[in-house]
Amino acid sequence: MPDIKDINLAEQGLERINWVEKNMPVLRIIRDRFEKEKPLQDIRIASCLHITTETAILMRTLKAGGSQIKLCASNPLSTQDDVAAALVKYYGLDVYSINGEDNETYYKHIDSVLEFNPHITQDDGCDLVSTIHSKYPEKCNNVIGGSEETTTGVIRLRSMLADNSLKYPIIAVNDAKTKHFFDNRYGTGQSTIDGIIRATDILLAGSTVVIAGYGWCGRGVAMRAKGMGANVIITEVDHLKATEAAMDGFRVMKMIDAALYGDLFITITGDINVIDIPHIEKMKDGAIICNSGHFDVEINLTALNKIAKSRQRVRKFVDEYKLDDKRIYVLAEGRLINLAAANGHPAAVMDMSFANQALTAEYFTKTYRKGERLPVDVMPVPKHIDEYIAKLKLNSMNIQIDQLTEEQKKYLASWSFGT
Ligand SMILES: NC(=O)c1ccc[n+]([C@@H]2O[C@H](COP(=O)([O-])OP(=O)(O)OC[C@H]3O[C@@H](n4cnc5c(N)ncnc54)[C@H](O)[C@@H]3O)[C@@H](O)[C@H]2O)c1
Repeated sequence: MPDIKDINLAEQGLERINWVEKNMPVLRIIRDRFEKEKPLQDIRIASCLHITTETAILMRTLKAGGSQIKLCASNPLSTQDDVAAALVKYYGLDVYSINGEDNETYYKHIDSVLEFNPHITQDDGCDLVSTIHSKYPEKCNNVIGGSEETTTGVIRLRSMLADNSLKYPIIAVNDAKTKHFFDNRYGTGQSTIDGIIRATDILLAGSTVVIAGYGWCGRGVAMRAKGMGANVIITEVDHLKATEAAMDGFRVMKMIDAALYGDLFITITGDINVIDIPHIEKMKDGAIICNSGHFDVEINLTALNKIAKSRQRVRKFVDEYKLDDKRIYVLAEGRLINLAAANGHPAAVMDMSFANQALTAEYFTKTYRKGERLPVDVMPVPKHIDEYIAKLKLNSMNIQIDQLTEEQKKYLASWSFGT
């Protein structure tokens, strides 16, 4: 039995799902083919993803391919309850998630999707894969492969591989170029700013925004904040990324120094306690802190709760912490602000990310049906899939590009031409 908030929200959810589909032409093309060819017939997929309208389009695509799916959330605050209801009512999916669920319910729901012995796992952050490995190791034998959506999940999986804990092959969807070049950069860039504005209604123009992390996501957030007129400061731990940020025109400094200037702080590193008490002690009265990295560990809220005189919810998604000399505002309890306070990434980028998920599921199935087994490893999405998705996306944008001539192909493949 599915476990969702309210089935009566289904109609609203369906309306929103239908709206985003217009912006997901690549998945639509894949779905049309899946409907004819049924490449995933009788494949059981356990899926742990943010339950959003875009995920609903992925679920439709996988179902069109003939698979059976159980879906739970990859974050307790990101579930769109109307979408969950629509997936149950109109697509007959087993969905287990309620926005705002506590940690115990969150893991109970992961247990529920693992009940039917999946052939494929789809994860966003590695909570599903770590649960199947630690609680149900015997179920791993049945799994032909798993796909991982985000940077943090890939890092956890590589740790599992390194200490020989991983029991089945994983494809790192995050590492596909058609994923992180677009989803992490433009998707997180836009939706993080969107979430902050929805939660606070602040004006970015003229304010100082401190962004911790200049990876794929951080670059996108910095680019958009700058575009809206903010003075952007970057903090980093990697010399290369810090150099890049400086040459992109941002001020780069240590967090302890940036703490003095920031009106708004955004963490997007995948790391722990990036904003800690010594930083908060230096911040201005009224500073706003939020996170868009995968887990709610980037701001040390445990320590902040200990030193705060009081904490009060002053507005949806905004908690005011009173300290001796100032007030600090934390958004969305330190969870991904773009999914908690806004709708996550726009459909046009999720189109490519989820095309990778759909085609990866097909790739695992084809390999399995040929009687082959992929090695236990954390692997990239096969290059031909990545390139095919880029081609479809470009076609859908009505953009034509040049093709190499025979002469150019020969030239580029040769070492004999020189000065
Ligand atoms: N909000 C979303 O929708 C969304 C989307 C994609 C990825 N993510 C998550 O965002 C996080 C970052 O992803 P990414 O793809 O940008 O990763 P990335 O590896 O490209 O970048 C992370 C950057 O953070 C830096 N960093 C690490 N520790 C730091 C510290 N203490 N101070 C300052 N910088 C530090 C690293 O050097 C690196 O440059 C991950 O947790 C990822 O899972 C979130």
